[in-house]
Amino acid sequence: MGLFGEEYQADPHPALAELRRDGPVHRVVTPGGVAFWMVTRWAEARQVLADPALSKRQPVDGLPPELQAAMATQMLLRDPPDHTRLRRLVTAAFTARRIEALRPRVEEITDRLVDGLESPGDLIEALAFPLPFEVICELLGVPGDERGAFRGWSNTIILGQFGTAEFTEAIGDLVGYLRGLFDRKRARPTDDLLGALVSAEGDRLSSDELVSMTILLLIAGHETTVNLIGNAVYLLCRHPDQKKRLLDDPGLVPAAIEETLRLASPSATTTYRVTTRPLTLGEVTIPVGEQVLVSLLAVNRDAQRFTAPDVFDVDRVDGGHLAFGHGIHFCLGAPLARMEAQIALGRLLSRHPDVHLTVPWQDLRWRSGLLMHGLTALPITVAAT
Ligand code: HEM
Repeated sequence: MGLFGEEYQADPHPALAELRRDGPVHRVVTPGGVAFWMVTRWAEARQVLADPALSKRQPVDGLPPELQAAMATQMLLRDPPDHTRLRRLVTAAFTARRIEALRPRVEEITDRLVDGLESPGDLIEALAFPLPFEVICELLGVPGDERGAFRGWSNTIILGQFGTAEFTEAIGDLVGYLRGLFDRKRARPTDDLLGALVSAEGDRLSSDELVSMTILLLIAGHETTVNLIGNAVYLLCRHPDQKKRLLDDPGLVPAAIEETLRLASPSATTTYRVTTRPLTLGEVTIPVGEQVLVSLLAVNRDAQRFTAPDVFDVDRVDGGHLAFGHGIHFCLGAPLARMEAQIALGRLLSRHPDVHLTVPWQDLRWRSGLLMHGLTALPITVAAT
């Protein structure tokens, strides 16, 4: 049973369960010949994600020189002290107050999208995909009439293939647009995240760092949140008893989102880390200079950590999933993603308690690749049959 191919995409868990049973870490070689180590158990995942001897520093190759710096200074590809400084600067602007202030807008956007749902229709296209994009525009402060172009570049970058001419052109256009937007916000300050970042006093982000940070927020926060909303609705449609629990007690919606994060982790793996000294996990010692990644899908179903790990249970109270990572790179956007997903699920169920799949769940198609875990489409009806 392998990690590549249609069988894995349709259901990755049998292959991951086999690896997890065999040991905490495994050497994997992709069909393209790239070798890395994959961690499949929870305890070792926590160890790896918090280990300062694993470096996140990665070169960004394959872009024209003028775009290189604008892409490569992002904090997800940095170690301390660079990472510490970048994370401190953005955390000062990405406050709980700013996220909470977005709540009424997120509710408004969600209601509009839920009102527009067609039956039958595709929940990904109609709700899960547009919602996080509109919310990130609100958070960053992209003016309403400029969002069409912004959406075009963003979609090409998120859905496109790194290295293609189309992809590079979209990055170039986006970088140019962002530089102009920052200039406008410097000249006329705005009360949004980018406004706060450009007008920070004292130590502040350089122009390349600002571009890099904005693109990171856009990319890190979009597809992951699309997958979380889609996976939550999928799991509830697949488990009508659990859906009924939520309809009887809507206070369980946050717990259902946490259970989705655990059971169907939207970011299937963390991004790469590289060993800077030999790393021993179980009986394996990984040499220096090797790539390591954590399969969040595997570790969040580790029976050594979770009781009945394969069961979707909205009454589960033991928490502890690693879907947002762990350690210094723990997801900056977790509170925002949770808020969006809770609102989306809550509003969808209260408006359409009868939502259900129009195809058997086994026929649904999942996005390919090891990094993300989300549906390409989620065909639903919202009218009672
Ligand atoms: C980092 C998952 C939504 C911004 C991470 C990491 C994970 C993750 C696993 C750690 C990567 C690693 O250690 O290699 C998710 C999931 C999301 C989500 C599952 C939605 C369900 C968001 C949102 C934003 C965001 C909405 C922002 C708008 C970031 C940033 C980092 C990050 C900036 C890098 C933090 C650092 O390097 O210090 N995310 N994310 N994420 N995420 Fe998220």
